Amino acid sequence: MCGIFGYIGKDKKPASLILEGLKSLEYRGYDSWGIVVISNGILKRERHVGKIGEAKTVLPQTTTGMGHTRWATHGGVTVINAHPHFDCSEKFAVIHNGIIENERALRRALIKKGHKFSSQTDTETIVHLLEEVSKNNKKNNLSLVDQVRLATSKLEGAFAIGVIDRDRPEESVLARFGGPLVVGITDGYKLFASDPTALLPFTKNVIYLKDREIAWITPNKVEIRSFENHLKRSKIHVLDWDVEESKKGGYPHFMLKEIMEQPLSLTDTMRGRIRDGGLVKLGGLESVKEQLRDIDFIRFIACGTASYAGLYGASVIQELTSVTADVEIASEFNYGSFNWPDRSAAWFISQSGETADVLKAVDRVKREKILSLGLVNMVGSSTAQATTAGVYLHAGPEIGVASTKVFTSQMISLLMIACWLAQLRGEGEKSRQVAKQMALLSKLLSAVLNSRQVLKEIARELVSKSQIFFLGRGRNYPLALEGALKLREVAYIDTVGMPTGELKHGAIAAMDKDRPAIIFAPSDGMEMKNRSSVQELKARDIPVYVMTDKSGRKKFTDVADRMFVIPDVHPILQPILLAPIVQILAYEAGVLLDRSIDKPRNLAKSVTVE
Ligand code: G6P
Repeated sequence: MCGIFGYIGKDKKPASLILEGLKSLEYRGYDSWGIVVISNGILKRERHVGKIGEAKTVLPQTTTGMGHTRWATHGGVTVINAHPHFDCSEKFAVIHNGIIENERALRRALIKKGHKFSSQTDTETIVHLLEEVSKNNKKNNLSLVDQVRLATSKLEGAFAIGVIDRDRPEESVLARFGGPLVVGITDGYKLFASDPTALLPFTKNVIYLKDREIAWITPNKVEIRSFENHLKRSKIHVLDWDVEESKKGGYPHFMLKEIMEQPLSLTDTMRGRIRDGGLVKLGGLESVKEQLRDIDFIRFIACGTASYAGLYGASVIQELTSVTADVEIASEFNYGSFNWPDRSAAWFISQSGETADVLKAVDRVKREKILSLGLVNMVGSSTAQATTAGVYLHAGPEIGVASTKVFTSQMISLLMIACWLAQLRGEGEKSRQVAKQMALLSKLLSAVLNSRQVLKEIARELVSKSQIFFLGRGRNYPLALEGALKLREVAYIDTVGMPTGELKHGAIAAMDKDRPAIIFAPSDGMEMKNRSSVQELKARDIPVYVMTDKSGRKKFTDVADRMFVIPDVHPILQPILLAPIVQILAYEAGVLLDRSIDKPRNLAKSVTVE
């Protein structure tokens, strides 16, 4: 989820202009940045860790150049890992957004051929590949486009790259396979970016590069070809957003954008981690593999939404492995008494990695000499640094205070962790079946999101109620808690989240027409129990909204007031497909009640105080 910005021309001051472009991409929250320009046949570069803020560039203002804001994937947050990356002879510079999955094999082969790597990034393999192509084709006088085409044909994974060559001061080449790239068209110079937002201050005329396309850009020309070298017609789109609006990708709120981009964020979280035959690979856990092979107990520690993802994680770990797992809320853990059996691990779940209660818990666990692991979205954050090993979510930046896409990425990561553990311990038969099914998730999730209108109508009925009860059993119980939290934080409606089976132990006394129930009841073997609960509620005139799947719907058609139906999927994956329901209900209710959607009152995205 990195930011890319480039300039091809000679009239403007490229370094300052690129810096401006990068600044406008910073809303995505980046960890390091860098710029390169071509100056008298030499590549001049500056790179920094941290936010761009009010930075000024020290580079000469000459001709073509490009910049990058990094959201780390391979390699820590350091100056050396920041882009642009150079080849050994400092002829080429490359910036990259995406993940190169065959990076290790490529790096090994290139090192054998004598290439010297200076960073831990996957990106650096691209620039050395380019150098190799250039060396091997000295006599052929290949164009930059041809060289990029040959180099990128070796890459597996996802990439959107920008390339410049010190010997070609007025051109640049882009290649896209999986990441966004947009070219900005103006008279006399051209721009490119990973997000049209960054181009808006300069031009509204853009060309979107499609997957498997390569663009050759000069100050006066943009030529687009396919990876197979066929010339393509490039359509110029006229952007009709204002700058603020465009950061939200055309959505009125970040929360909605982040809900709707979940098919993509889930794919990003899983990318390169599920191999043929359902084998799960989690590189971040390699260093603690031996300890985890023999682990008996895992305690997840987290706050808010992350703790509900943890509940799901504990349940799937117990389902797929013989490891015992549970969850503690960090603020409770910090002041309570907790025992750790032999062979235990603490696993911290945090989007930001900066939540104060979580960091305090990490400290305590480390003092007690327990293995500490992380499941974090922000690369290089305090939790990521303080834990011994872990897994990154790669869900991309989440701006809306109410967590949405990160919740589903946390769940899928925890499921991958459960599968990985099962496979590591020789308990992996079921896990391989589950992992194979995960590949279907993004498509099914898109189908759920496309039915948003039905949920909007339900939200319209909910906003006038005094209180709403969210109910779920087993793996779907965390969703009841998350549903209650989402509606409370975004729409400020009074809610309760509880296990369905607990209804008759108190809650049903308080419920009436004005206090309806939302029950999660997909076909998971509990349909008849859930049907009985719905009947008990209906017998007392309490409205019930049933959230079920295609196979489960017939059990409820005669008893539910309204239903929302998701596609059928393996029961262990049902909560991930049901999650957008609570997010959309909260969002739509918040909009109807005119709430501050992205920044609900009194809340903060990252709670850095206890
Ligand atoms: C805040 C946010 C929640 C988030 C929680 C934990 O309360 O509003 O969305 O779930 O913090 O944050 P973390 O960054 O540790 O996941």
